[in-house]
Amino acid sequence: MIAMKPTIIAVVIVSAAFVQAQSNPAEEGPKIVAEAFAKLSGALTDAIAKGGPTNALAVCSEKAPQIAAEVGKAHGVVLRRATTKPRNPKNAADEVEAAALEEFAAAMAKGGAVKPKLVPADDASTSFFAPIVLSNPLCLQCHGTSGQEIAPDTLTAIQKHYPQDKATGYKLGDLRGLWRVTFPAQSVKPGINQKFLDPNLKVGEWTEKFETESREIFHQREKIVAAVGLKPGMAVADIGAGTGLFTVPFAEAVGEGGKVYAVEIAPKFLQYIRARAAKVHVSNVQTVLCTERSVELPEASVDIAFICDVYHHFEYPQASLASLHKALKPGGQIVLIDFKRIPGESSDFVMNHVRAGQEVFESEIAAAGFEKTGEVGDVLKENYFVKFRRK
Ligand code: HEC
Repeated sequence: MIAMKPTIIAVVIVSAAFVQAQSNPAEEGPKIVAEAFAKLSGALTDAIAKGGPTNALAVCSEKAPQIAAEVGKAHGVVLRRATTKPRNPKNAADEVEAAALEEFAAAMAKGGAVKPKLVPADDASTSFFAPIVLSNPLCLQCHGTSGQEIAPDTLTAIQKHYPQDKATGYKLGDLRGLWRVTFPAQSVKPGINQKFLDPNLKVGEWTEKFETESREIFHQREKIVAAVGLKPGMAVADIGAGTGLFTVPFAEAVGEGGKVYAVEIAPKFLQYIRARAAKVHVSNVQTVLCTERSVELPEASVDIAFICDVYHHFEYPQASLASLHKALKPGGQIVLIDFKRIPGESSDFVMNHVRAGQEVFESEIAAAGFEKTGEVGDVLKENYFVKFRRK
């Protein structure tokens, strides 16, 4: 590790997740850190050999950003070092980094091996953290004790560049900080919603597909509505409302004192739903344009979130579920209906289109802070029908 310029480099080259191969942060994190470390160490050692630590300060402040940019760019990640005692204030640890540093420090205090860790974020990115331990006497020439390891001219140069420097007084074996590699969110089913984003989406084609008796959830729609458990006055979110097949019956079930949020990623569907609600004089429907990562609903506003043949369209389930958790009132419910996906039994369409079966989806929802409260077994055959409560 190395003296760096007061700018930390963050380069993300991946704009569309679906053109990128899926990467594995647990495997790639250590490699990326090792690569950056080797390049920075090489530059530092060269500079010190050429002109001592004071020279290295200047050289590294120019080279380090370049190295970090190159390594980040090559891997499509954001690379950064962070610490609670920064030299450059931009490297000050944020909350998540400070928590990781505390864990590392605790492990070191126990004398155990300090393992890197992975931390998923609500925006569906994943951060890899690796400890930076001062293990090379060379580091102390700039991070040790002034008057001992740090030469007076080096100290002067450091203080000139970094008047708020906190990164001295270290000893060999101390935890100096951490590396953070942030992997951008990756879609679990790249491209699955692409067609719905088309501004010229032909809604008529979709009403034909969605609202046909051969589709089980259409055929059984009245029983489904009855089994959801809506009461007058409730706020219900119809997540991925599509052509609004359930929106109007829900609006009638919750009554004028209640509310239906029709949530969709397709602007065209929302337009259609507004017209559909107006036609039958239903006034308690509010359309909401969501994103791939968020349901975009107000905090603690929803009693029941209805997700019917839609969860398998969540590209960033963790992020969407986190936003849903916030949108639900304490004790609020998720009603999940999705295709049974059983190899050898389910159709090719389901096997290809739906990325996973009931068990996987249930475990993802549980991990997002929900508990399963029951299953409705007598309404559907091709689909399962499960209820969860927000913890
Ligand atoms: C030539 C002086 C010098 C040497 C030697 C040096 N550093 Fe630094 N170090 C710096 C400077 C300057 C910065 C501020 C970089 C910046 O502006 O981002 C820094 C920053 C850091 C940071 C980022 C956090 C912060 O405080 O801003 C870490 C971590 C770090 N050094 C660890 C090490 C380790 C480990 C070694 C030994 C391998 C080492 N350094 C050797 C000068 C040095």
